[in-house]
Amino acid sequence: MKAVQFLSGFALLALASLLASAYDPSPLQDICVAINDPKDGVFVNGKFCKDPKLAKAEDFFLSGLDKPGNTANRLGFSVTNANVEQIPGLNTLGISAVRIDYAPYGQNPPHTHPRATEILVVLEGTLYVGFVTSNQLNNTLIAKVLNKGDVFVFPIGMIHFQFNIGKTNAVAFASFALFALASSLASAYDPSPLQDICVAINDPKDGVFVNGKFCKDPKLAKAEDFFLSGLDKPGNTENRLGFNVTNANVEQIPGLNTLGTSAVRIDYAPYGQNPPHTHPRATEILVVLEGTLYVGFVTSNQLNNTLIAKVLNKGDVFVFPIGLIHFQVNIGNKSAVAFAGFSSQFPGVITIADTVFGANPPINPDFLGKAFQLDPKIVKDLQDKFINGN
Ligand SMILES: *[C@@H]1O[C@H](CO)[C@@H](O)[C@H](O)[C@H]1NC(C)=O
Ligand SMILES: *[C@@H]1O[C@H](CO)[C@@H](O)[C@H](O)[C@H]1NC(C)=O
Ligand SMILES: *[C@@H]1O[C@H](CO)[C@@H](O)[C@H](O)[C@H]1NC(C)=O
Ligand SMILES: *[C@@H]1O[C@H](CO)[C@@H](O)[C@H](O)[C@H]1NC(C)=O
Repeated sequence: MKAVQFLSGFALLALASLLASAYDPSPLQDICVAINDPKDGVFVNGKFCKDPKLAKAEDFFLSGLDKPGNTANRLGFSVTNANVEQIPGLNTLGISAVRIDYAPYGQNPPHTHPRATEILVVLEGTLYVGFVTSNQLNNTLIAKVLNKGDVFVFPIGMIHFQFNIGKTNAVAFASFALFALASSLASAYDPSPLQDICVAINDPKDGVFVNGKFCKDPKLAKAEDFFLSGLDKPGNTENRLGFNVTNANVEQIPGLNTLGTSAVRIDYAPYGQNPPHTHPRATEILVVLEGTLYVGFVTSNQLNNTLIAKVLNKGDVFVFPIGLIHFQVNIGNKSAVAFAGFSSQFPGVITIADTVFGANPPINPDFLGKAFQLDPKIVKDLQDKFINGN
């Protein structure tokens, strides 16, 4: 029998500091699809970028993450990559993902990612996972047994591992958040961590220093600070739009503080939708676990508001670049499920309809009528729906 784990998303866009020059650059345009031959390129930001006029949905797409990798090797594990080598549209966006398969008693041996924090979600099986802090924190092992639906964080640069301690196969998804190069324009991005870990606490009097949220004394950090369970449980989609987001960000996992990544589970009722919205601080990489989704994003005015959209099935991956308006619609007659990784510990959500028509206090309906080419009476009607829920 096989166990599956999803490793969902390592994505980090870090704040630029002059010291952070080894990290991925912040994007300087909406999209920058990588190409190998510079003679076809238009400009450089990371890899050479394809002419954005030629960008297509396939540049942001990968299929096959529903297929187990071959674990018949000495260590009994296999990593299926979804990074810029497979998805050229990831170029400059600071995030990627993997699927990891583990044979019974297989392991992903001690290793480190020099440029990314990893957030891992177990899909199937039982893993013993951990990381070891650096010399300054006395090489402390922070480890835990994970079961289906559990989430764990491996901070950037720390040596870590996963051992399948079960008699069955295991599967995980992980996403990797890369630190963005600091440029003085990138100040809205998450800061680069200035220490191994910085577990958030609410009361500053118990804190030791600030970088994002206040940090707990690292001597008191424990595996639970990097852990969350329950991502195997569907959210309740009985609402107007028929979708539900279960968050795994710094509010639920305080150990994510300063690490520039987070994850979500998204459930969709039949014909449910995650309506047009944007994440002000993060690129998103989404993996479909079940169902059929029509997804897309729209480029900014400079790129003529081009819709880049595609139908996704189980195992398909799609990228939504930072700040661009995007959506997912379940076009199937059964429930759908996806996991997504983000390049921020707290990506933020701006739902377009709620923000425009549900602003508090309301935006003048005459102004909105002109902007949206609508009769102000219709605007008032929309405002009534979004403000009062009628
Ligand atoms: C590391 O060990 C030193 C010496 O025993 C001790 O003073 C210090 O508090 C320890 N630090 C942590 C983070 O455990
Ligand atoms: C999402 O699901 C959770 C768990 O079932 C539920 O508590 C929450 O109210 C749901 N959220 C929405 C917006 O329906
Ligand atoms: C946007 O439209 C303008 C005017 O039609 C055109 O010159 C330009 O090439 C278009 N840009 C893209 C990225 O499609
Ligand atoms: C759902 O769609 C499939 C494929 O189109 C169809 O065979 C099936 O009858 C549909 N089920 C329901 C409950 O509508």
